Amino acid sequence: MQPRRIADDIYWVGINDRQSDLFEGLWPIKEHGVSINSYVLLDEKNVIVDLSCELMSERYIHKLKEVVDLEKVDYIILNHMEPDHTGALPEIRAQVPNAVFLGTAKACEIAANFYDLRDNFRVVEDGEELKIGKRTLRFYSIPFVHWPETMATYAVEDQILFPCDAFGGYGALPGILFDDQCADLAFMESEAMRYYVNIVGTHSSNAKKAIEKLRPVPLKTIAPSHGLVWRKNPERIYELYSKLSNYPDGKREKAATLIFGSMYGNTRTFAEAVMQAVAEEGLPMEVFDVNTIHASYILPSLWKNEGVIVCAPTYEGALFPIMTNVLNIAKVKKVQKRTAAYFGSYAWGSMAKKQIETYCTEQKWNLIENYQFFGKPKAADFEMIPAFAKKFADAVRMAS
Ligand code: FEO
Repeated sequence: MQPRRIADDIYWVGINDRQSDLFEGLWPIKEHGVSINSYVLLDEKNVIVDLSCELMSERYIHKLKEVVDLEKVDYIILNHMEPDHTGALPEIRAQVPNAVFLGTAKACEIAANFYDLRDNFRVVEDGEELKIGKRTLRFYSIPFVHWPETMATYAVEDQILFPCDAFGGYGALPGILFDDQCADLAFMESEAMRYYVNIVGTHSSNAKKAIEKLRPVPLKTIAPSHGLVWRKNPERIYELYSKLSNYPDGKREKAATLIFGSMYGNTRTFAEAVMQAVAEEGLPMEVFDVNTIHASYILPSLWKNEGVIVCAPTYEGALFPIMTNVLNIAKVKKVQKRTAAYFGSYAWGSMAKKQIETYCTEQKWNLIENYQFFGKPKAADFEMIPAFAKKFADAVRMAS
């Protein structure tokens, strides 16, 4: 995509990463990519807001030069130091001899340690304003959205917020930049949700504080550093992020996520019977096969739903490793206080049951059922399912 004007003398100069398999070396983006958005403000002082990643630095710098003479850049605002937004810094540094880097005190420390950037860095304070000509920029500290140094930059007269990761989403920009140009907003929102849970979710209490802090700021446009620029309805992404940041406090969906993994089909057979019985209780449910679906796509469902049903066998004296991986990632992302159940097959060892018990205690999951069967599930095993389904659906509905 070519540079795009988002307001008078304000340009998007981002890049689409459609090459990387993984974001943060962890989260799949191969299918739909991700955009790394950067912005240029032309005024008496010329400003770049956030940079780009190392992999795309050549393409990014070429695009920047289409909009601004790099020797005439006065400020580079580093809202966030994660290398998806700063990887291009070493390459760009020599080309911006007159630029002063701006960021929080913590950003200054990170810049020194990640990039040896020790000169030309000016620390800005929360609420500080910077006049750049006809425009004023104001900085809002929003720590841990997504790293401790993070801040948002606000163009006061234009009412444009540049919040970096906050309000961002996966998904490369499909030739369009703005929400009102997007033919499939539901998809971009689902990718924003996956991004939130994968990247920001652990720090939801901070995200909530940031959202509340920014609530009184008049906004015409939210221009994050990933995903769409929201100019028609910024409230829409604002509300989505607000909802996502509230799920950990218990305002979750009265619905369940059933995750199953199986080696030879015994646990899968049982999982199918469980999902049918729970569905017959009228409880909305999303189902994921961990053998084939990456945890990145399962996390949003675990994040929003009150109920979790885990179906997986014992493997080499422990819970099936792929399921362990999913649960470990859920633990890292602080998916806590759920209504849960476990079912699984075992052969000579049945240690998964104990492991689940420990996990649920640590994660404050209310374990409604913890049931194992030897090898293939028998008629007697299936008999317990209807009563379980009712008890589980009731518990999910009753959970506060
Ligand atoms: Fe888009 Fe936390 O970096």
